[in-house]
Amino acid sequence: MPLSKIAGIGMYVPEQVVTNNDLKKWMDTDDSWIQERTGIKERRLAHRTEETTTTMAVEAAKIAIERAGITAQDIDFIVFATLSPDYYFPGCGVLVQRALQMKEVGALDVRNQCSGFLYALSVADQFIKSGMYKNILVIGAEKHSMGMDYSTRGRNVSVIFGDGAGAVVLQPTEKENQGILSTHLHSDGGSAEILAQYNPGSHANHWMETPVADFEEAEVGEMFMSHAMIDKAQLFPFMDGPAVFKKAIVKFPEVIVESLTKNGYTTEDLNMLIPHQANLRISQFVQQKLKLRDDQVFNNIMSYGNTTAASVPIALCEAWQNGKIKEGDLVCLAAFGSGFTWASALLKW
Ligand code: ACO
Repeated sequence: MPLSKIAGIGMYVPEQVVTNNDLKKWMDTDDSWIQERTGIKERRLAHRTEETTTTMAVEAAKIAIERAGITAQDIDFIVFATLSPDYYFPGCGVLVQRALQMKEVGALDVRNQCSGFLYALSVADQFIKSGMYKNILVIGAEKHSMGMDYSTRGRNVSVIFGDGAGAVVLQPTEKENQGILSTHLHSDGGSAEILAQYNPGSHANHWMETPVADFEEAEVGEMFMSHAMIDKAQLFPFMDGPAVFKKAIVKFPEVIVESLTKNGYTTEDLNMLIPHQANLRISQFVQQKLKLRDDQVFNNIMSYGNTTAASVPIALCEAWQNGKIKEGDLVCLAAFGSGFTWASALLKW
């Protein structure tokens, strides 16, 4: 059974740089609060009308496809991870198929938030290993800026996130000692509401003790999105930051060690850990707990913020472009996020 390898990788971030100080034009915040708690100095925000989650993904995909030495016509399956799709439906996968004028290949959208890219990679890995497909385009992309509360009311969430996209082309490899060794996927829905965007949705307050949507004046057919929801700012994401932090610092190390143990390695064998860029403090905690050296961990949240499904492929791409990952290196990709879901992939580059 051939393993799958990352044959090409690309990333795209919007031109517009928004520093912590720039955020002050919209909200009451300060650079030191943001840097101390998250490590973030600046993030990229997409052009309001000219860029979408899919247009950014397409730019990243073009680079990944070119670096894999193939054309868009050679792609035989698309897996697209995002929580900020262009449309509620259909998903972004079909928009990429259209934009890149691909054959009528399958397109699957994955909704696993911060671990979305790793879930997508794992799905693609199984298709390659089974021999079903030869060139799979795996994408993680987000345009968070379209739906964040950039007023003081939403500052505990909106300052953390940024826009961007990353993509890889997965192919079978015949080489010994190369490719994805294993992937590990987990979930615990017990905390689904701790980091979530409840509305618009079909929940009708069913899962909550305290209602999260105001349907009182909603007419038939307005339960999805009502005027009251807009007036009461119920269409923004919610995050219990400390609760996320507590769970993340347990599950991140667990899933990293799981991938190493499964393949007979220890943390000392690891050349590079690419953690989902949730928060620099979480990455630092994980590094400390696993006793990893600085050169074994790559972080770029300082420049891009948390780009959710895009963060792992963007960080992996940048680490590779900067010469921090070389052929034969043992690389672990790991993520934790809303759901909660968490995941890892161990690979030989
Ligand atoms: N600027 C200035 N002040 C702020 C801001 C801001 N952007 N946001 C919140 N504050 C204020 C609050 O209003 C509050 O003020 P008060 O004490 O007068 O009421 C004070 O700062 C503390 O607020 P908390 O929400 O308790 O801040 P906390 O110290 O917990 O830090 C943070 C918040 C950074 C989100 C932290 O909880 C954290 O790191 N959590 C991890 C979650 C995370 O990283 N999520 C990333 C996305 S999820 C993922 O990718 C897995």
